Amino acid sequence: MQNENIFICENIGVADNGNLSFAGQDTVMLAKKYGTPLYLMDEDRIRKICRTYIGAVKKAFGDNGKVMYASKASSFKRIYEIMLEEGMNIDVVSCGEIYTAYSAGYPLSNAYFHSNNKTDEDIAFAMDKGVGYFVVDNEEELYAIDTEARKRGIKQSILLRITPGIDPHTFEAVATGKVDSKFGSAIETGQAEQMVEIALSLEGIELSGFHCHVGSQVFDSDVFLRSADVMLDFILDIKNKFGYVAKQLDLGGGFGVRYLASDPVYSLEDVISEIGDFVNKKVAELGIELPIIGFEPGRSIVADAGMTLYSVGTVKKIPEFINYVSVDGGMTDNIRYALYGAAYTLTLANKATENHNMLCSVVGRCCESGDIIQENVYMPDSVTRGDYLACMTTGAYHYSMASNYNRIGRPPIVMLREGTSYLAVRRETVENLISLDI
Ligand code: LLP
Repeated sequence: MQNENIFICENIGVADNGNLSFAGQDTVMLAKKYGTPLYLMDEDRIRKICRTYIGAVKKAFGDNGKVMYASKASSFKRIYEIMLEEGMNIDVVSCGEIYTAYSAGYPLSNAYFHSNNKTDEDIAFAMDKGVGYFVVDNEEELYAIDTEARKRGIKQSILLRITPGIDPHTFEAVATGKVDSKFGSAIETGQAEQMVEIALSLEGIELSGFHCHVGSQVFDSDVFLRSADVMLDFILDIKNKFGYVAKQLDLGGGFGVRYLASDPVYSLEDVISEIGDFVNKKVAELGIELPIIGFEPGRSIVADAGMTLYSVGTVKKIPEFINYVSVDGGMTDNIRYALYGAAYTLTLANKATENHNMLCSVVGRCCESGDIIQENVYMPDSVTRGDYLACMTTGAYHYSMASNYNRIGRPPIVMLREGTSYLAVRRETVENLISLDI
């Protein structure tokens, strides 16, 4: 396999000295400067994608377009500062995400608080911090939010999370829009309608509209059109039954990104424009007003802005069986192969121009056979201890899903901006790891 397959995003290149470059910077120099394993984040790319989204929704829906960054994809203080600077709203799912955004000075009136099981403590915490909208999953939660809001003498704005009954054909673990999903209330079972009726009757609740999210890593625009179709019919149905007109319709996130050269290339602008045409036409047909249309992308904002750099340790060749290339990270900083069998593009950063001709499995350093970054990939057969290995497209659901299994500290996050680099999250030290132990 030749290395032209590594250029899956415009920010990946090879420098004159043959080293892999990312956001125009030499990855080998970055690995030497900051140590490995290391998460790199291309800040210019993140900002560019935010602007693309905001421009596209404005074109499609005018002032009625809204974009929220689903911060579960990657949550740390600096990312919320960037979102604030770029005029993005945010989606948060826990007190931890709320507190991180709050600590970064992000105004939480622009936040949408998700989760399918908010505890009473979560609800109180979010209200203390002034979270703008709760996205309510189920009936118990609706009553719990109402109780807390009334106690405080406020009306809490909410969206109801509705399950439109759509199968997005993605990994089972990230499909969320089907009727039997653990998320939301289904239209098909009548529970969605019941939720509306209850929400409208509660004194502490201000129903602002509806939300749906059918899955993640979706490439087929038809999935978004079908959910918009179902949701707009639902809005009309509710208007006819209760005289209630939804002010907001959040169509969720899920836009796919390229992990491999073979993944489809598409334009976000085109997809949003297609959704815009569809929604505007449908709204006119139904004779309803265009609600605020929200999108909630996570992965597509940060995934290809990320790259992980590792140092190669052991290279174990088991003749006639398999070759293992072991790196100084693993399932602790990238759980996605173990969890979903997710595909990645890998290369040797310091030998990017060498022929990658040795079939191998790239594995981590954890005590677990499933600790695999990727199977059946090619590395140069000169691969040896001390080489640097790069794994592409690791900006989403990597740092945010990292663990301390084997008491391994999480890698730092280094931001790349206009040819410079700076630390946004420090490397977790052994002292940090025992800091909660009494
Ligand atoms: N909105 C809601 C309500 C969601 O549940 C999610 C993702 C998003 C937005 C953002 O979706 P995105 O644009 O990132 O696809 N850990 C999995 C992904 C889980 C996604 C969970 N929800 C992975 O690593 O692939």
